[in-house]
Amino acid sequence: MTSTQVAREPLIRRVRRKAERMFGPAGIFFKGFLKHPAMVGAILPSSRRTIEHVLSVVNWDECRLFVEYGPGVGTFCRPVLEKLRRDGMLIVIDTNPDFIAYLQKTIGDSRFVAVHGSAAEVEEIIRANGFEQADYVLSGLPFSTLPEGVGPAIMAATHRVLRPGGAFLVYQYTARARELMGKYFPRIDKGLELANVPPCVISWGWKD
Ligand SMILES: C[S@@+](CC[C@H](N)C(=O)[O-])C[C@H]1O[C@@H](n2cnc3c(N)ncnc32)[C@H](O)[C@@H]1O
Repeated sequence: MTSTQVAREPLIRRVRRKAERMFGPAGIFFKGFLKHPAMVGAILPSSRRTIEHVLSVVNWDECRLFVEYGPGVGTFCRPVLEKLRRDGMLIVIDTNPDFIAYLQKTIGDSRFVAVHGSAAEVEEIIRANGFEQADYVLSGLPFSTLPEGVGPAIMAATHRVLRPGGAFLVYQYTARARELMGKYFPRIDKGLELANVPPCVISWGWKD
């Protein structure tokens, strides 16, 4: 470790601990960002307006399996569970073990399963939970900073896993994910949410 690293280490640790104590879930999210900036890709969880906007296309009566990639500290999980039918299931997948442990500790709902893994493994993960297809998949993944090849693998697996008529709901801070999405989802509806830090681009990709 260089002398600069030695000097910076304790400060970063102190900031993480302080943020977690002061801001609850937002602090845990910020701590996750400091640890893995490229994988988390945002310093604040999504706003309430973003959540409602992204979920506005979902037909909840027909939703038995809802999957979320990159739930972070669960900003979308609680609103999804509020709307989800009683016999529905929400499976969330995140590569950050701290976020998964936090969700397992704080969300006690029998319809909720939090899995530590990559979104690219969605097919194996839903099969292990008794499903062959998903009705909706939601993503807050930072597609532009994911390692090489991971974005296309996730898009392809998501297209395979969705039932016909199902949708991939994607919110991002740039429109770049939409270009990648267009290769797998020929029909994409577009939206923009300004009441978010930073404003976000929303894409709803439909499986025909
Ligand atoms: C921008 S944050 C989304 C936060 C949250 N959904 C929200 O609305 O506030 C991105 C999340 O994606 C997760 N992530 C990154 N790469 C992933 C992958 N390949 N599979 C699953 N989750 C991943 C990160 O750990 C992080 O929790």
